[in-house]
Amino acid sequence: MNYQLNKGGNGMRTNVWDVRNYVEDLSTYPHVQEIITGFKAGETIAIPTETVYGLAADATNNKAVAAIFKAKGRPQDNPLIVHIHHQSQLEWFTHDIHAAAYKLMDHFWPGPISFIVPVQQGVLAESVTAGLNTVAVRMPAHKVAHQLIEMTDLLLAAPSANTSGKPSPTKAEHVIHDMDGKIFGIVQSEQVEVGIESTVVDCSQYPFRIARPGAITRNDLEAVVPGCMSDEHIMGDKPIAPGMKYRHYAPDSPLELVDYFESLELSPNEAVIAPLSEKDKVNGGWFFALGATYEDSSGAMYDLYNALRSADNIEQIEKIYITDFTPYNGSDALMNRINKAVTRK
Ligand code: TXA
Ligand code: MG
Repeated sequence: MNYQLNKGGNGMRTNVWDVRNYVEDLSTYPHVQEIITGFKAGETIAIPTETVYGLAADATNNKAVAAIFKAKGRPQDNPLIVHIHHQSQLEWFTHDIHAAAYKLMDHFWPGPISFIVPVQQGVLAESVTAGLNTVAVRMPAHKVAHQLIEMTDLLLAAPSANTSGKPSPTKAEHVIHDMDGKIFGIVQSEQVEVGIESTVVDCSQYPFRIARPGAITRNDLEAVVPGCMSDEHIMGDKPIAPGMKYRHYAPDSPLELVDYFESLELSPNEAVIAPLSEKDKVNGGWFFALGATYEDSSGAMYDLYNALRSADNIEQIEKIYITDFTPYNGSDALMNRINKAVTRK
């Protein structure tokens, strides 16, 4: 199915291409050429990946990349991730990748992980790297993303497809909410599998460092190449991924962390986002599930952004509480996102 949003509005007409029945072989989707031609012409198109939906465009086209920044309202000093479908594409725009980085790529790609490596000058649009001498690269595993990159034979720059500062989109409807009328099109698939953005590993110096935690952990990396990860704590005050200095993933209503509770009384304009196991302890207000139990970090990652957006969409809700997983669950990535979303006092 294909339809256009925003008919008669002031903005751009945004195509929605529903490819849910064509995921296995996208070449059989009747409108696939519109998507391919759009990318080649420098249009911005949102696509599903297994982490979150991305807002993609030709990474070598200055205008196309500028349109990504504009649609998101993204600060210019925050570089983008370049998406590839095959390791041979690395030769087009990177150089001198560390042997240990190749080992990690071989093991974890395609998948929810990005590697920061030295960039060749003069290939990518300058704003992709924000003028740095490195570039973040990812090979997504999502079949739709993978096939689109292959069919276009382009390097696709893609940040998460949300308005800057808002929770990343895990469903096509989230992208439509933020991007209708601002981009050329949206490739609609199911809710994404992982639910939070990729792990970003800085491989520009050895040992490597985690620039942004994700579903693939430091221990997972160490298990593949022992000693490859620095002990340095990067989640302190000085973020090495420029994007990490901004408040992120934030709903419009104030969001506050809440500790484990035996029972919780809420007023009709309050909501709590907590593991489903805690639902019966909550009286009044609104409840949104965040995984099954406190131990279920992958379930919580899957639910997080949809829960934040769902709570925000209910006008009556003026205050949101979210549970602190720290004592129960070793996931840096989950608490990293929750801490960035909570309202600073
Ligand atoms: O899962 C993901 O990574 C998604 C999907 C669409 O691939 N993309 C994503 O992109 O989350 P974005 O732009 O929302 O986040 C990219 C992060 C930012 O924190 C940015 O600062 C960092 O990666 N980054 C990109 N290039 C970098 C570089 N050369 N050096 C340091 N950090 C970099
Ligand atoms: Mg983002």
